[in-house]
Amino acid sequence: MTERQGLAARLAKERNVLILAHYYQTMDIQEIAHVVGDSFTMAKKAAAAREDVLLVCGVRFMAETAKLLAPDKTVLLPVPDAGCPMADMIEAEDVLRMREQYPGAAVVCYVNSSAAVKAVSDICCTSSSAVRMVRSLEQDEIIFVPDRNLGAYVASQTPEKRIHLYDGYCPIHHIAAERDALAAREAHPDAALLVHPECRPEVVRLADGVGSTEYILNTVEAAPEGAEFIIGTEEGVVRRLERTAPGRRCYLLRAGFTCVNMKKTTLEDVCRALETLAPRVELDAGTADQARVCLEHMVAVQP
Ligand code: 13P
Ligand code: SF4
Repeated sequence: MTERQGLAARLAKERNVLILAHYYQTMDIQEIAHVVGDSFTMAKKAAAAREDVLLVCGVRFMAETAKLLAPDKTVLLPVPDAGCPMADMIEAEDVLRMREQYPGAAVVCYVNSSAAVKAVSDICCTSSSAVRMVRSLEQDEIIFVPDRNLGAYVASQTPEKRIHLYDGYCPIHHIAAERDALAAREAHPDAALLVHPECRPEVVRLADGVGSTEYILNTVEAAPEGAEFIIGTEEGVVRRLERTAPGRRCYLLRAGFTCVNMKKTTLEDVCRALETLAPRVELDAGTADQARVCLEHMVAVQP
């Protein structure tokens, strides 16, 4: 442990802080976090936390989710402008417009969205729970926001539903084209292709496995020594696998799979936030009450 990591660990203990980090965070942060997980695990652990303060190393929607699920706790987001460009592609008015267009449809909202968008949606999901959440609805007609790629994947798994997609996407996962997947397969013919459902449908169609960051990590870690994988998600997952699954060979689907927002948070920012107990996430009370309804069901249902 470095000196700064030691400082972070000591401050967290003194101030009764639970540090939650996403797998896309840098390894020095993952090493000092008490919880490292995908969006679903982070949300669930935030909801069940006993500590007074939650420090979220990730992007804004993750910190907002923690605040919604643990409203009485102080929630810290060390770098306030660490956002998710996909979450920023939609506003509450866009959802309301789609509701007018498809009256009677249930609105399923990917957790990568603002509290304001969740507040006007019916039910929330993560990448690991999206298919299950859509299946659990009695309505046959669904509006899925904001990720059109995850929505298309869910639609492929639930042919019994009629799904209307919003036109949002993750600029990181969206850069991988079909030709990149074909080239990676040609370069590594013995490797299984594992992709995140935020990838384009033509990439998802070529994959051997599709799922959340945690699904990808679990699949590689459970594979025998020498197994090879092409990883279709942010490079933080490959960095983690170098530690947790050193006997397997992992290749990033293509260069440029780096989420700059996820990399904005540094260990220095974490220490400053622990020292000052700021910056805090605050939400409008009315919006939060409505958004919480849509989220609480999500954490109650296993992915
Ligand atoms: P996971 O829930 O799979 O970790 O995904 C979060 C995310 O932002 C993917 O880009
Ligand atoms: Fe948002 Fe994409 Fe970054 Fe995930 S990888 S936080 S969806 S921009």
